[in-house]
Amino acid sequence: PAEELDRRIRAAKEALGSRVTILGHAYQRDEIVQYADFVGDSFQLAQQSLKHPEAEFVVFCGVHFMAETADLLTTDDQPVILPNLAAGCSMADMADIDAVQACWDQLAAVYGTEPDADGRVPVVPVTYMNSAASLKGFCGAHGGIVCTSSNAREVLEWAFERGQRVLFFPDQHLGRNTAKAMGVAVEDMPLWDPRKPRGGNSEQDLLDARVVLWRGWCSVHQRFTVDQIAQARAKNPDVRVIVHPECPMEVVDAADEAGSTRYIQLAVDAAPAGTAFAIGTEVNMVRRLADTRPDLTIECLDPVVCPCSTMYRIHPAYLAWVLESLVEGRVVNQVSVDAEVAANARTAVERMLAVGA
Ligand code: 13P
Ligand code: SF4
Repeated sequence: PAEELDRRIRAAKEALGSRVTILGHAYQRDEIVQYADFVGDSFQLAQQSLKHPEAEFVVFCGVHFMAETADLLTTDDQPVILPNLAAGCSMADMADIDAVQACWDQLAAVYGTEPDADGRVPVVPVTYMNSAASLKGFCGAHGGIVCTSSNAREVLEWAFERGQRVLFFPDQHLGRNTAKAMGVAVEDMPLWDPRKPRGGNSEQDLLDARVVLWRGWCSVHQRFTVDQIAQARAKNPDVRVIVHPECPMEVVDAADEAGSTRYIQLAVDAAPAGTAFAIGTEVNMVRRLADTRPDLTIECLDPVVCPCSTMYRIHPAYLAWVLESLVEGRVVNQVSVDAEVAANARTAVERMLAVGA
């Protein structure tokens, strides 16, 4: 029962005291968020991972790629624990190191490997935070970088200073929406389908490319539609529609604003009483925003709400289990990145932290 789990989690947390830090992503359900010492987006949680050297353990209530990133940033003797190891991300699973390496080799065959007269390399690899540590390692080893939804533009600017074009994976929508807002033509962003030769592109498509987009997407954010925006506006013509940049381009174009998890949080925080929002992002976050601002009208853009099923796998029963195990002196469900990829992956994440958000 919920009360029993609540009692056990609180007791274990109290017994551990400052020995444990609990980090929670904004998409976690309220039953988890209530125990987090810090709640934020993936960029903020990466920053927080650096800020608790006093804690013996970090319990990460989020998904696997976020816990891996925390492991890159915490000290060597500070285990990072993911309460349920099955909490992955379907988008992150859409790119793996072998497919990215095959793509990279084919792009090298098209563009060569020599820098141009201004010293810009043919391609800079950029991986979204939502990717395995091995892909972050790939970027670190090839002059590339990591981005999150809150700094994708700044990171692309960083990449274009160093390269003639960008390979962006795994989320096509974040890459397309961000580059488009920077003035890159959509036709100069070929889509790379890892299942097809040359990613399904002609030589010409690739020669003109500014951003090569990986064919990946978020199953949650891809559900939002232009039709839902029309319905929200029909219901209330003054509604302010904000969507996450993981939504498809036509949805971003039809919205009033597009922005990251943090952008949405700040927009709601700053809104005058009475503002109505229709928000296109994960429903647990939208519900929490609505609860914290009862003076606003906040609805999820998708009326048939669908939470991120993998974020949802962090159930209080798992949190109770990992905390009680720590009390008993056992570390369970530790996420640790192979030393072989960790150094390069850390380089790519640190480049991103230096760019900021
Ligand atoms: P943020 O980078 O905004 O935290 O988003 C993470 C995520 O998984 C979005 O789907
Ligand atoms: Fe992955 Fe989408 Fe869930 Fe974010 S919301 S963790 S991108 S499946």
